[in-house]
This record gives sequence, structure tokens and C-alpha cells, in this order.
Amino acid sequence: MVSIKTVAVLGGTGNLGPSIVSELLSAGFTVTGLTRLTSSNSTPAYPDSVSVHKVDFGSFDSLKSAFSGQDAVVSVVGSPGIGAQKVAVDAAIAAGVKRFIPSEFGVNTRKVRDWPIGKILKGKVEVVDYLIEKVKEGVNGGEFGWTGVSTGLFFDWGLENHGLSTVNLKEKTSSIVDSGNEKFQVSTLAQVGRAVVGILQHPEETKNKYLVTSSFQVSQNELIKAVEELTGEKFPVVKREKAEELQKAGEEKLAVGDFRAFLDFLRAYNHRDGAGNAVSEEESGNGLIGLGYEDLRESVRAWLVKAGVVE
Ligand SMILES: NC(=O)c1ccc[n+]([C@@H]2O[C@H](COP(=O)([O-])OP(=O)(O)OC[C@H]3O[C@@H](n4cnc5c(N)ncnc54)[C@H](OP(=O)(O)O)[C@@H]3O)[C@@H](O)[C@H]2O)c1
Repeated sequence: MVSIKTVAVLGGTGNLGPSIVSELLSAGFTVTGLTRLTSSNSTPAYPDSVSVHKVDFGSFDSLKSAFSGQDAVVSVVGSPGIGAQKVAVDAAIAAGVKRFIPSEFGVNTRKVRDWPIGKILKGKVEVVDYLIEKVKEGVNGGEFGWTGVSTGLFFDWGLENHGLSTVNLKEKTSSIVDSGNEKFQVSTLAQVGRAVVGILQHPEETKNKYLVTSSFQVSQNELIKAVEELTGEKFPVVKREKAEELQKAGEEKLAVGDFRAFLDFLRAYNHRDGAGNAVSEEESGNGLIGLGYEDLRESVRAWLVKAGVVE
């Protein structure tokens, strides 16, 4: 029976990492934070209870030594570091790590690998392919395993940064794609952290699996309605876009190597009428890892309170 107690986190200093580290610590894991030699974070964003080591992310030897004694590696590296994870996978195997969780945490890259958005997510797709290959080779006598997790859009982070491209708090307006009725998959940052904890607490059930988890499914119209009810104000829709046009705009950008195409693709992916990316009960990995769901209204309220809009 595999038991995971020690966890090394790569890139735990960014937007998502601190929430994962915090949930791991609350669940009683011993966490080591690994930060790049070249990191420009002058004060490491790891809590004091985390021992932090500098590593050369491009160096097998540096990573292998940092992974020594770790049961699991959780990679939370941002986009520029996605490709470098293959060296980390090799180093984790060499160090005898039992579980590698790659930096996924968004769109289900298994589903979109051959879609235009999949071209932008190619680095993530290739890392999961690489993990699958390694497991097929039977490395470490089958003791090594991986788990990927798609969490959908970061709900609280997305609301804070861009109103999930739906609600403009300052202007008191909204914008929707197609009818605004399509439900899409979202997770709060804390929920992503709890998903990682759930995976590591269920190592057998989650071994070599790609899970799809969420806080809840929500449509743009449901989000606008929640904001209107909680604030008691109207947020009229001032912009309506068509998913088909967003998709076309993304393809045009991608054709000239403009990776801002991602946002167009992402919005078309989530909001196109009939997109079907809301997570069904059968598809949901929440149950497998003992992960509950959250409440849309409470999550919206938390955002509005933080923004000083409601008390
Ligand atoms: N679902 C969503 O809505 C959503 C939104 C944002 C991100 N994501 C996903 O969540 C994951 C983490 O994203 P994030 O926004 O938290 O990342 P981030 O803040 O951009 O970066 C996280 C950490 O990665 C390390 N890093 C930066 N450049 C690197 C490089 N070239 N090589 C290796 N490591 C590097 C840095 O850590 P050190 O400085 O300590 O080395 C950085 O603090 C990614 O998979 C991303 O695609 C999903």
C-alpha cells in the first residue's frame, strides 16, 4: 500500500502554488518548496514551515538531488516552465518518487489535444504523454505513477483578475458569449489545493489517471444573476460575442504565432452554446478523492466582500 507523506512542490510561488502548499500543510504533509536558481522572487512565497531549496530546473542532477526522500512531486510551474517538466519527470523517477502531478490545473488537455486550443497547450499534452510512456516502460518496477487533474477555470482568481470576462464590477456591466447559458467547469484556488491533497491521500485510486474535478459548474448568466442578487444592482449585458467568431479570431492569431489566441479559444471553448464542457457526475473525479463541491453564491459573495462591494 503506497503512502505519501513528503511532497516537493515545484513553482509553488505563483498564482496557484500558495493555495496548494497551504492545503498540503493543513492536511499534514511535509512540504518542500523548490524554487529556480534564477527565480526573481526576492522573498520566497513559501510559509516558514516549508523548507525551501533552490534548484536548477534544467538540470537532471540538481532536480534528482532535490527530489531525494520525497514521496511525491507536485509541479505548479507556470507556462514558461511547462516543457522543462520532462527533465523533472526523469529526475523524479531516478530519485524513487512514487507520484508525479504535472502542472495541468485547467482545461482537460486529454480532450483538446487535437483542437486548435490543444496546439497552445501542446507542452502540457506532451508531458502527460511522456508520463504515460514512462509508466508503460514499467519504471521503478511499477512503483512510479502520475496523476493529472483538470480543474477548469480558476473561479476566484478569474473573478478578481477579469470578472471571468463576464462581469465588470467597476462599470456595473456584463458581457456574454452566445446565449450565456452554457455551463462551464470552475474551481476556486483552494479547491484545486484540496484536489491535490485528495489525490495524494488516495494514491492507489488515482494512480496513472487523468481526473476532472471542480467546485461547481456555472453559466455566464447564472454568474451575472448571482452578482445582481447579492449587490441588489443591475449589470446589463453591453457586449455579446459569438463563440464562432472568437474561435476564428483565435485561429487567425495562432496562424501568425500570436499566442494571445489562447484567450479567444478559451472563451469559445467554455461558453459556446452546446460546448458540453460542464463536468457531469459520471465524469467527475471529486467522488474518487473525497472532494466536496462548493456553492456558487457563497463563492461570488466572497469575491464581492473582498472587492469591498458588499459587506
Ligand atoms: N485554470 C485556470 O484558470 C488557470 C489560470 C492560471 C494558471 N493556470 C495553470 O496553473 C498552473 C500554474 O500557473 P500559475 O499561474 O500559478 O503560474 P505562474 O504564477 O506563472 O508561475 C508559477 C511558478 O512557476 C515558476 N516558473 C516561472 N517561470 C518558470 C520557468 N521558466 N521554468 C520553471 N519554472 C518557472 C516560478 O516559481 P519560482 O520563481 O519559485 O521558481 C513561478 O512562481 C499552470 O499549469 C497554469 O497553466 C490555470
